Amino acid sequence: MNALTGKKILLGVTGGIAAYKAAELVRQLRGAGAEVRVIMTRAATEFVTPLTFQSLSGHPVHLDLLDAAEESAMGHIHLARWAEVVLIAPASADVMARLRAGLADDLLTTVCLAATAPLVLAPAMNQAMWLNLATQDNVAVLKARGVCLLGPAEGVQACGETGPGRLLEPAAIVAALASRSGAGSLAGLRILISAGPTREAIDPVRYLSNRSSGKMGYALAQSAVMQGATVVLVSGPTALVPPSGVEVAQVQSAADMYEAVLARAGHADIYIGAAAVADYAPETAPHKIKKDASSLTLNLVKTPDILAAVAALTASRPFTVGFAAETQSLETSAQGKLLGKSLDMVAANQVGAGVGFEVDDNALYVCWPGGETRLPTAPKSKLATQLLTLIADRYHAQHPVKNS
Ligand code: C5P
Repeated sequence: MNALTGKKILLGVTGGIAAYKAAELVRQLRGAGAEVRVIMTRAATEFVTPLTFQSLSGHPVHLDLLDAAEESAMGHIHLARWAEVVLIAPASADVMARLRAGLADDLLTTVCLAATAPLVLAPAMNQAMWLNLATQDNVAVLKARGVCLLGPAEGVQACGETGPGRLLEPAAIVAALASRSGAGSLAGLRILISAGPTREAIDPVRYLSNRSSGKMGYALAQSAVMQGATVVLVSGPTALVPPSGVEVAQVQSAADMYEAVLARAGHADIYIGAAAVADYAPETAPHKIKKDASSLTLNLVKTPDILAAVAALTASRPFTVGFAAETQSLETSAQGKLLGKSLDMVAANQVGAGVGFEVDDNALYVCWPGGETRLPTAPKSKLATQLLTLIADRYHAQHPVKNS
């Protein structure tokens, strides 16, 4: 279950160029299973029309405090009671000043004053306005009252200046809400995931690697956050943008990955080894190898098996899930790996020309001691969610106390 499934989120949109990003935020919040109602300030309607938010949220947008029709339908007190979270994104300097003062001079500030739900602000404004002592003072007071601030991010601004004041990306806001909600099938669990290929240096400029894109591991990380987990991703080199809300440790070689994973495995409840770790690594030449010889032999040495090492931990062993990428005898190999490496679960997929690596779709055969299932071909994001549901079920079956 997603951490935001059925969550009632009241989104306040204030006036600023970043208001257009709030439209995408509504789409993503609903995609994560939340129910969204929108209040816009008058200034916000100068940037985006209420119709946009009405279409995306599936409900009329609330605009006015003293609107008779509005008050008889879902008035300000009703809205305040309905909300399980009040999120203001973008939050202007002006709305923060008014919240700090406790003003109730429009619908949004009135609802904030009447609501008992947590208040989350994602500020967006010109960097000088953000850094102004008045704004900083307002932020400090609001934080001291328990208001949660998400961002702002730094970067190039709509006004052409560079600095702090950009609205956090919608995905980052959704991930932050999911992780602080305390709900979802993986709520409260710490999940360590390794992903991507490794690079084994031949010399200072060359390496051996494989075709892994990292997509499956990254999809697992993203989905785990959305199911309420705290996620650490140990990633080999990939072209992917790390999912929002995930702590990432970048590594290169199998030896680096071994160190990074083993240093963190004891603090994890679940470890998922989704990386395509090189099985062998060459002895690295200290200088670039010259092409003088007519042939060249590389001496390859076996790398440490990270997954087996995690599964063999005696103290603080996490629930350990391995992947098996096979070109033949998928199920037999998966079962063999489950027993051979003493794992709690194995997810096996066919690899080869056009399947498994570097593609967006996949299919999985999943087995665990005493059970098995098949997850048919689907986008890796969907498979990740299905696999995490299986993992959550098996984990909770093993840890009934943590489940209660
Ligand atoms: O034994 P095989 O390499 O096929 O097993 C694949 C699984 O083992 C994957 O989960 C992969 O991440 C993990 N593995 C590992 N360390 C290695 C090789 C594979 O953790 N050196």
